[in-house]
Amino acid sequence: MLDIEKIRRDFPMFQNNPDLIYFDSAATSLKPMCVMDAVSDFYACHTSNVHRGDYAIAAENDRLYDQTRASIGKLINCDPKEVCYTFNVTHALNQVAFALGHDVLKKGDVVLLTKAEHASNLLPWFRMEQESGIKVEYIPTDKEANIHMEDFRKAMHEGVKVVSVAMVTNVLGSIQPIKEMTKIAHEYGALMVVDGAQSVPHMKVDVKDLDVDFLGFSGHKMCGPGGIGVLYAKKEHLEKMAPMFMGGDMNARFKSDGSYILKDVPVRFEAGTPNIEGVIGMGAAAEYLMSIGMDNIHAYEKELRTYFCNKMKELDNIEIYNEDNEYGPLAFNAKGVFAQDAAGYLASKNIAVRSGNHCAKILHEIIGTDQTVRASLYFYNTKEEVDRFVEEAKNISIENAIGIFF
Ligand code: ALA
Repeated sequence: MLDIEKIRRDFPMFQNNPDLIYFDSAATSLKPMCVMDAVSDFYACHTSNVHRGDYAIAAENDRLYDQTRASIGKLINCDPKEVCYTFNVTHALNQVAFALGHDVLKKGDVVLLTKAEHASNLLPWFRMEQESGIKVEYIPTDKEANIHMEDFRKAMHEGVKVVSVAMVTNVLGSIQPIKEMTKIAHEYGALMVVDGAQSVPHMKVDVKDLDVDFLGFSGHKMCGPGGIGVLYAKKEHLEKMAPMFMGGDMNARFKSDGSYILKDVPVRFEAGTPNIEGVIGMGAAAEYLMSIGMDNIHAYEKELRTYFCNKMKELDNIEIYNEDNEYGPLAFNAKGVFAQDAAGYLASKNIAVRSGNHCAKILHEIIGTDQTVRASLYFYNTKEEVDRFVEEAKNISIENAIGIFF
């Protein structure tokens, strides 16, 4: 079991905001001191570029920069050379859609998505519909956005060349059967792309076991700094893919006649001076999460979410959209109250949640509303916080929620 008191001492946000209940970790997670130390050490002790400096601190940065690839390799069980640094999961998924959409997919080829995806796993494919004539189709889901294998089997056909889904959806926390889906996708010769933004921070994700072709995730949702993320791809795919960005460091040489040779993967996908401090901080975050244990984190969060959901279900004024899902955020509305007003009411009680459509702008076709309050937990949250949240949620009403602004 987790030692929550000890864990909370690792996060200065709790000491600096003693009354804050932070239930918005699906938007971004809090950061432990070890991550801040790793980032500030870079600034204070070894600032320099990477792969460019012929002096000791630059060599130290090269070492730390590549060490994070090893940490991420351990976290998701891949070869460090299959870890490309990106700005975030959005960048990772755009890179995949760019490379496949331009060089692999042909007019009429189908990409299968769900209507529960975040914008970052819809818009890059919508653009490829316009640029390359591919076709987007949707896998049906149940009312809490879960894919059932019989529906997936029916949605698959010879024209499907890519399946791209979130492993855990960002609003409803639906956990998709990625391993089984990947097996079927591969039987049809289709590639499996996974948005891991809401799974990698919360559970063991083993890309070898899942056998997925691509996985993207962001550092800032897994206790790491902002502006840094990862694209994992099987090496055989990376070696054939065109980088979306061209520039410094990623090239081996180029000539005035316009010819060029790129460096090997993964550096080929890291044009320009990267977010070095972000990479180093993300490495510290990955090590921190692994020291707690991804299975421990997952089990604790599942228990806390069940406790939370059961208490919220007892409230007459609350309608929950994902009570059958065992995991992830709780998406709800207070009856008759606009989601942002409800979030404003909670904010007046020092409770942080997100409201609105959460960038999942066609999810309303599944759940019937594009306005929900989303309360998202992480392993540093407690039952005491849940109890206080529920006490406050009980009082959200049209009378007391409207007109509260922040
Ligand atoms: N993608 C983040 C969320 O779901 C920002 O809130």
